[in-house]
Amino acid sequence: EDAEKSGYDHYMLKEIHEQPSALRQCLRGRIDDLEGTVTLEDLDGLAHDGPVQFVACGTSYHAALVGAERLRRTGIPAQVFLASEYATDRVPVGADTLVVGVTQSGETADTLRALREAARAGATTLAVTNTVGSSAARECDHALYIRAGPEIGVAATKTFASQQLALDLLAAALGDGSDRAALKALRDIPGQVQTILETSDARAVAEAFVDADGYFFIGRGYHYPVALEGALKMKEITYRHAEGFAAGELKHGPLALVTENTPVFAVVTGDDEAARKTIGNVKEVEARDAPVVAITDGESDVTRYADHVLEIPAIDELSASVLANVQLQLVAYWVANQLGRSIDKPRNLAKSVTVE
Ligand code: G6P
Repeated sequence: EDAEKSGYDHYMLKEIHEQPSALRQCLRGRIDDLEGTVTLEDLDGLAHDGPVQFVACGTSYHAALVGAERLRRTGIPAQVFLASEYATDRVPVGADTLVVGVTQSGETADTLRALREAARAGATTLAVTNTVGSSAARECDHALYIRAGPEIGVAATKTFASQQLALDLLAAALGDGSDRAALKALRDIPGQVQTILETSDARAVAEAFVDADGYFFIGRGYHYPVALEGALKMKEITYRHAEGFAAGELKHGPLALVTENTPVFAVVTGDDEAARKTIGNVKEVEARDAPVVAITDGESDVTRYADHVLEIPAIDELSASVLANVQLQLVAYWVANQLGRSIDKPRNLAKSVTVE
């Protein structure tokens, strides 16, 4: 087993470091830079301009939130459902609906049930999965493979990054495409992830906050699902209380939980209105003496209010969400490592949950 970890102490750390190559595999042969087009051959000519509904669980649900936001920004109506809450008698589904199941394993019972129900209601179904030959891949009308390679650690890491990228490609293929610059930016992501892996200060940040009472994560737009995922990773492998919030929601309740012993991780990139609003939220927690960790490209002045900075390169917002998440994966890993947790097999959790 040690040999399979290639010198890393845990599969999770190995898989975090495999993200550059996983992301390259996800892109391979799918982008034509010259034409500015995306071709997803495995989709077998799927053309769709109706509404899209995503169903997913856990980390895959967070990837689906990113995918749906991306589709909406290209003008396609898209909704996201927790697979366990999806019911076709409560949401309109018809022959013009594409239902996308995002599932790394392709075997999650809640997601399979939702996809089957959607198919019965007449929808076209698509599995976005890592597993060729899985139940989801076999049962759906179409399958899009994320090509992340096998993931052993129970806490999903590289598959989340690959899902984010695959759903970005799906949106480009279904929507009005992407411009050449945007597609070229996708090609830069693997190298940028590599740089983060080599330079991250996440371990020092983790050491600073290993005894915190709880951990909060905030973000807007594409960074909101990253906040949710950052908190989920922290919960799963450290067994500590962690919550992710849409940055604007902090003042509607969660702010009451903020103290000098609850670090707030804020994902802020660019210097647009969304960034400025999140910085406003950062000031609110700073005024309550909470330590602030900014995950940022340094384009805004959020660093002025931050006790620690985890840097990412300046790129478009969606790509930035992939990079910011890598920093948060590392923070969760190093907190769990300090606490001596069973990182690859956290208590009470399973890699794939085959009961509803
Ligand atoms: C389990 C795993 C999670 C995963 C979820 C969905 O709960 O512990 O890491 O996100 O299942 O898995 P799927 O295979 O459908 O992506």
